[in-house]
Amino acid sequence: MINAPEPSGQPGAFAKLSRRDVLKLAGSAATLAVGAAAIGVGGRALAGGVVEPLNVKPTPGLLRFRLTATPAFVQMRPGAMTAVWRFRYRLLEGDGSYLTPGPGFMGPTIRVPRGTRVICDYSNNLSEISNVHWHGLDIPADQDGHPKDFVEPGGTRRYDFVVDQPAGTCWYHPHPDMRTGPQVYMGLAGLFIVTDKEEAKSRLPQRELALVLQDRQFGAGNGLVYGDPSGVVGMLGNVVQVNGEQLPTLALAAGPVRLRLLNASNSRIYKLALSDGTPLTVVGTDNAVLPTAVNRGYLMLSPGERADVWLDLSARANSEVLTLRSLSFNPFMMGSSSLVNGAAFDVCRFQTSTAPTTPAAAPGALVPFEAYTLAGASNAANPRLYPIGRDTTTNPDLCQPCWTLNGVLYTLTGLESNETVPADTLEVLQVDNPANGPVMPHPIHFHGRAFQVLSRARVTGNSSTQTSYNGVKDGFVDSGWKDTVLVWPGERVQVLMKWTTHRGLFVYHCHNLEHEDMGMMRNLLVV
Ligand code: C2O
Ligand code: CU
Ligand code: CU
Repeated sequence: MINAPEPSGQPGAFAKLSRRDVLKLAGSAATLAVGAAAIGVGGRALAGGVVEPLNVKPTPGLLRFRLTATPAFVQMRPGAMTAVWRFRYRLLEGDGSYLTPGPGFMGPTIRVPRGTRVICDYSNNLSEISNVHWHGLDIPADQDGHPKDFVEPGGTRRYDFVVDQPAGTCWYHPHPDMRTGPQVYMGLAGLFIVTDKEEAKSRLPQRELALVLQDRQFGAGNGLVYGDPSGVVGMLGNVVQVNGEQLPTLALAAGPVRLRLLNASNSRIYKLALSDGTPLTVVGTDNAVLPTAVNRGYLMLSPGERADVWLDLSARANSEVLTLRSLSFNPFMMGSSSLVNGAAFDVCRFQTSTAPTTPAAAPGALVPFEAYTLAGASNAANPRLYPIGRDTTTNPDLCQPCWTLNGVLYTLTGLESNETVPADTLEVLQVDNPANGPVMPHPIHFHGRAFQVLSRARVTGNSSTQTSYNGVKDGFVDSGWKDTVLVWPGERVQVLMKWTTHRGLFVYHCHNLEHEDMGMMRNLLVV
């Protein structure tokens, strides 16, 4: 896939760049991804997403750049080019390592040390309203991309904020009311990576590879098909892409690598596992590094969630192939795609490109972590309740009936009495996903600060929800920071949230983007 730096002086034109098929790093031992010729038949190059650590500037500074959401055509698969929407960009001020081509045809990867001020001059070249939300960043409300802060077609605005939070994997995407799903699906998303000194002191690998998972559906002439025929499950494509490519093979040299996984799919949930049963070593969840690495036989990754995984193929023979798969599970509502939610499929392949050597020791303890306690919550005995439900007054334009959060559908500035929350105060929140009637899992996301999962319990449901739950429960990683948490049918999830110090209007919502668009979103006023 090609990336899209803005062509100089031609705001309307689209740059046709040559394919970045070979990533040349200093010395072959440091080579992370190499071209197809070097790794044999089936090997595919991966453009973007690979970082040479020596180029990364460790001290905070200023990043100023232009970001334009615009229609474009990309060569997504053989044959006709595909009409997409994408972010073009240009660095205006700051270190070159702060803004680099994104994986596939995604927006640029922003990578800044903690303390960096980010100024983004955004233009909306689409024919509908849009904006940018910085998912996982704890920044002022008026910079967060609230749906009310949309930019008209042809309009511009400036985002200006300081990144002051621990290292981790965030991302950005549009957030207009009722149109987030189609805009992300059409290609508007990018990675926003924060680095810091704690992370640099840890034993995390310096080399890394971003893997952005999205599913799409192609129609005649390679056009993208968008829609949810069921109206309740969400958009499910039958082609799963990693960084814009279907089932790529990624060459990895000896030595550990940090995979930064992002589920940027609209509604597909992944149950990730390695083909030979090697556990996944998880070193980060959502927007932060874990206190200690944990191993999982499989890893659940729902829309909006990120996971950083340590992978070391050193012991494997040259050219050995390991497949990252999504295993089957039962999400109850599977959709009508030919690749249903919960189906098994291969995601991508890793191929060793060097002779076997001794792998590095597992990473163990990583960064300092302050665990919240229930006793420390100001409402310990009285959790704030934000249940998942369904709106029975039919709204045929959207859904029949619609999924809800906190009992009501979204309106741009509507607030229930329990949605005004105290800044910088630790509270316990409870999200129940009832298991009666039509049920499905929902990934619940809060803007503002990240939270910690206090507990998961099954409080409703029958033996079939129990069986389904048994097939996924060992794939949750709840030992660090989260900004999105998957709540299974029958589950009660309690989280400890210290509300952001930034006062103003934020949102929380289901990150199944069609659910978000149909109103499964609510405002939060931080006072
Ligand atoms: Cu990634 Cu409000 O969302
Ligand atoms: Cu967000
Ligand atoms: Cu949902």
